[in-house]
Amino acid sequence: MALIDSFGRTIHYLRVSITDRCNLSCDYCRIDGNEKLPNNDKLLTLEEIGRLVKIFTELGIERIRLTGGEPLLRKNVLTLIKEIGSLPHLQELSLSTNALLLQSYAHDLKKAGVGRVNISLDTLNHNTFNTITRGGKLQKVLDGISTAVKAGLHPVKINMVVMKGINDNEIGDMVEFARTHGLILRFIETMPIGDAGKNVSDKYIAAEDILTMIKQSYGSELIPFHQKIGSGPARYYQIAGTKANIGVISARSRHFCDTCNRMRLTSTGQLVLCLGHEDRKDLRTSMREGATDEHLKEQIKEAVRLKPESHQFENNDIHSATHSMTALGG
Ligand code: 5AD
Repeated sequence: MALIDSFGRTIHYLRVSITDRCNLSCDYCRIDGNEKLPNNDKLLTLEEIGRLVKIFTELGIERIRLTGGEPLLRKNVLTLIKEIGSLPHLQELSLSTNALLLQSYAHDLKKAGVGRVNISLDTLNHNTFNTITRGGKLQKVLDGISTAVKAGLHPVKINMVVMKGINDNEIGDMVEFARTHGLILRFIETMPIGDAGKNVSDKYIAAEDILTMIKQSYGSELIPFHQKIGSGPARYYQIAGTKANIGVISARSRHFCDTCNRMRLTSTGQLVLCLGHEDRKDLRTSMREGATDEHLKEQIKEAVRLKPESHQFENNDIHSATHSMTALGG
């Protein structure tokens, strides 16, 4: 069984946001700490998420990433993870997190079937961290990262959203931090998603410029890596003469829509086919109106057929993304 869209792309990866809540408030993701969150009655229950995820895996989804908001804030998240982790068709279960709660969760996540984690970390400077996240404590994240490594979650990937004048002076420090801790570091271009994302557009740095900065600071070439790491769109390089590997995600400057393999389910049960488009399919309402598994499968297949060819980040028309990252989890 496979889900193939009308441009011939096989969709085998689903990102599932299990809460919009977050214990940080990063300025490229949230306008302030007070956005309106969906009412509880709109949120999928853990049972509903479990049911949908099972259906998706029966349709050909092989990889699931749980995200948010901060997914570890969802009550009883481990119960859901155990349930998803034991689905027969699933090849990989991963999690995106800000690491604040990893000290207490990492070992249980590993036991419950999580293979790998992606951690958001944009700076190693305590003040900058506090500013970007509007009040977060960097030390807790650093402790969470070490616990994840000790628990055997592998690989641990670090996502750094690079912003001009905010953290672009820390690219070299982040490379060293990742290298010494055995982490895979990816540099991410800011994306104009939601109002918060659009607000940081003036701090955008193109991936090519990030690569040039690395070459200059190491005085070395970057050797492209052909081996695939994960199922994402990052391009990876080794810094010549070192053991350091880095990745870049150039959603904006060099889009990778032709190899897009994913879709997203929001915490309220909306199936989103493209980060850069508003279109969505309301699976929650269908489910609550009594749709059978077969009926839901038909709706999902129909939605996949309508997956857009590419995002429209540079186009401000009505199709460009106004949904917020808090609902979609990156
Ligand atoms: N631009 C780029 N990346 C973003 N993320 C969230 N908002 C944005 C944005 N506007 C990414 C961060 C975080 C992940 C969950 O989503 O990299 O690590």
